[in-house]
Amino acid sequence: MNKNRFFSIGNKISVIVIILFVVIITLFYLYNNFITYPTLQEEKVNRIKEIASFFRDDTLIMLSFEDLEGVTDVLKKIDSIENILKMDIKDRNNRLITTYSKIDIESTKSRFLNEIKLINKPTPHFLYFYNLDKNYYMVIYYSAKSYLETINDYQKFTILISLLILIIISIFSILIRRLLSPFTKLANTIYNLNFDNFKSFKLENSYFNDERGLIINSIQNMLDKIESTLNRVKNEIEKNRQKDKLMFQQARLAQMGEMIGNIAHQWRQPLNEIGLVIQSFELAYFKGKLNEKFIEDRVAEGDELIENMSNTIDDFRNFFSPNKEKHNFKLNKAIKKSIQMIKASLINNNITLIECLDNDIKTFGYENEFEQVILNILSNAKDILLEKNTLEKVILIQSKVELSNDLKYALIEVYDSGNGIKEEIMDRVFEPYFTTKEEGKGTGIGLYMSKNIIENMHGKLSILNREFKINKKVYFGAYFSIKIPI
Ligand SMILES: Nc1ncnc2c1ncn2[C@@H]1O[C@H](COP(=O)(O)OP(=O)(O)OP(=O)(O)O)[C@@H](O)[C@H]1O
Ligand SMILES: [Mg+2]
Repeated sequence: MNKNRFFSIGNKISVIVIILFVVIITLFYLYNNFITYPTLQEEKVNRIKEIASFFRDDTLIMLSFEDLEGVTDVLKKIDSIENILKMDIKDRNNRLITTYSKIDIESTKSRFLNEIKLINKPTPHFLYFYNLDKNYYMVIYYSAKSYLETINDYQKFTILISLLILIIISIFSILIRRLLSPFTKLANTIYNLNFDNFKSFKLENSYFNDERGLIINSIQNMLDKIESTLNRVKNEIEKNRQKDKLMFQQARLAQMGEMIGNIAHQWRQPLNEIGLVIQSFELAYFKGKLNEKFIEDRVAEGDELIENMSNTIDDFRNFFSPNKEKHNFKLNKAIKKSIQMIKASLINNNITLIECLDNDIKTFGYENEFEQVILNILSNAKDILLEKNTLEKVILIQSKVELSNDLKYALIEVYDSGNGIKEEIMDRVFEPYFTTKEEGKGTGIGLYMSKNIIENMHGKLSILNREFKINKKVYFGAYFSIKIPI
């Protein structure tokens, strides 16, 4: 996961908690302002209206007799009614007819007929203008103290509850974060895990006897297992590498031995000829023909032979020089080089080699490795032909381009007349160290190596026993085919 877009569970919980808190407080505020406070006020208003109508009839009677004292007596009844502070009777012109008050409170000059007003200062009270008849109205001063106290209580209560909710939510959030902290640590440790060194993964888990400990323990176990498996794999790879190294060294030594044999075969003829040249000196001397011209000719002949022999050595040395770069090379040229290495040995052993090569195929890879594959196959064929000592010792090598499933590939085929490989060992010839040759003659690495090389070129090396025809004559033996995509 992209860590830039990472938003931890802890932070998510914090955001949710803050939103939750704001929502709860807002709801509280709205409830108080739109439901609780208006309800409270309405209660008071009803009470004031009740009081007003209670005084209405008596006051009107007294006013009809124009008995102002009587009106004042009526008003005096407010002494026994709670919360009423004062009452005025005024006429339509806003003139004060009479008044009675429990405490000192200034009369209002303005008129808000049939309306209720809340006056906050100096003494908090509700003001109600009550219509008595077409000539008079009554002004009631009703104490707002208890109303304001109740509201104050409500507000205090709201603040207290908000604080309480805040504390509970904070504690809750801290608790969740604490519960999550091992997971946070775990997540960070896993994120920063160094895959080369699992030992760096260590978490305190001894405190946890719950699911957290279980998870951490399981991951620790898992990593330990991965680490031990990785170590085992590394060891195995290293062992294999060592084995391969050893194997290739052995193969090299074996091939060197074989090559010395091949050089010997190639040198046999020039050595013979050099011998003849030397003998010719003796003969010429006794016949009295040892003149300057004779010596010059023979020395030139000897030089040429020696140069040929030296070239042979160079060829072999080049053939076994270490791998050069991978490159494009012509298949038939590589095959011919391999044949050159073994040709003399084949001729000296009366083995006929028939070549039928396509001149234009090119492929990509390590050329000298490919040459060694061909040499391995030809050497095997030579060995089996000498071992079986069949009447006619024939090897046929051919190359061509083939098409299968729209894929173009080079097909190189090597047949020999050595009667083939026994069925029961057919599956094993590509195994390393598998050989049927007597000790010192084969290491059993040739085909194993050859298969590896061809597969590295994305090709395929396979084997069959098969008949083949040359000049209408039928032979039977092993058949090797190499397919390389081109
Ligand atoms: N053309 C063939 N005909 C019959 N048997 C063969 C042929 N080529 C290989 N084999 C069998 O396959 C075996 C394995 O061959 P491979 O080239 O891997 O090893 P090797 O020739 O025994 O030893 P090395 O090549 O390492 O000197 C041989 O011992 C032989 O029994
Ligand atoms: Mg071999």
